[in-house]
Amino acid sequence: MANSADKSQIDPDRIPRHVAIIMDGNGRWARQKGHLRIFGHKHGVRTVRNVIEAAVELGIQYLTLYAFSTENWNRPEAEVNALMELLVQTIKGETPTMMENGIRLQAIGNIEKLPPGCNKQLQETVNTTKDNKRMTLILALSYSGRWDIIEAVRKIADQVKSGTIQPEEINEEVLGAALNTAAYPNPDLLIRTSGEHRISNFLLWEIAYSEFHFTPVLWPDFTPDDLYKAVLDYQGRQRRFGKTGEQIQPVH
Ligand code: IPE
Ligand code: IPE
Ligand code: MG
Repeated sequence: MANSADKSQIDPDRIPRHVAIIMDGNGRWARQKGHLRIFGHKHGVRTVRNVIEAAVELGIQYLTLYAFSTENWNRPEAEVNALMELLVQTIKGETPTMMENGIRLQAIGNIEKLPPGCNKQLQETVNTTKDNKRMTLILALSYSGRWDIIEAVRKIADQVKSGTIQPEEINEEVLGAALNTAAYPNPDLLIRTSGEHRISNFLLWEIAYSEFHFTPVLWPDFTPDDLYKAVLDYQGRQRRFGKTGEQIQPVH
């Protein structure tokens, strides 16, 4: 069990700069309580609010939340519509709080596919919050890692076609710069709730060296204490990036 001592154990000098979360388990949470799935999504929004606040307080600079995947368009129409409605309401309702807390909202994904009202609200809040500096909140909406990589490859192919770049000049930097996530550092810590141990087409390119933290907690039940636990788990890891442990921390 997480307890309030967890926060005090966190080393403030080694806070992950970028945390990405696969917020999963809303549907199961609702079903367990005998409710419709959308009830779980509504409660999931409350968790989003609490986690954002806790992340800002910890000094996390980038928080990416997987809110809707490319594949989620295949869910029943009523659920998709309800999720989109919830999204507009939440973004609108949370804009003043984002302003108070210095949060800059950004989005990654095929946002042109979102209903026009949803897209409009998103653009509006992105614009209103654009100068905020304390934390960047990145919503992954109609997003998938493969979609982004394909889009990036198309952009690069166009550049090759027009002669602005030669095929042999294509490297990690070039591909990384063509992705939706180009402006952000790679996630240091990736969290998935609900006990599933998979990536579900999230930041495929960017998580090459992220630390993973899986928790059985369903998203509506995820608390700031669960976030602290994940950060502590992260702080206990040795990130080697292919090197040996001794290279990272020499033995004297
Ligand atoms: C995550 O919860 C929210 C979205 C994917 C939009 P789910 O809706 O996937 O909940 P489960 O996994 O069915 O319990
Ligand atoms: C991943 O959850 C997508 C989001 C959290 C938005 P899913 O519930 O869609 O993933 P799968 O289908 O269990 O892999
Ligand atoms: Mg799910």
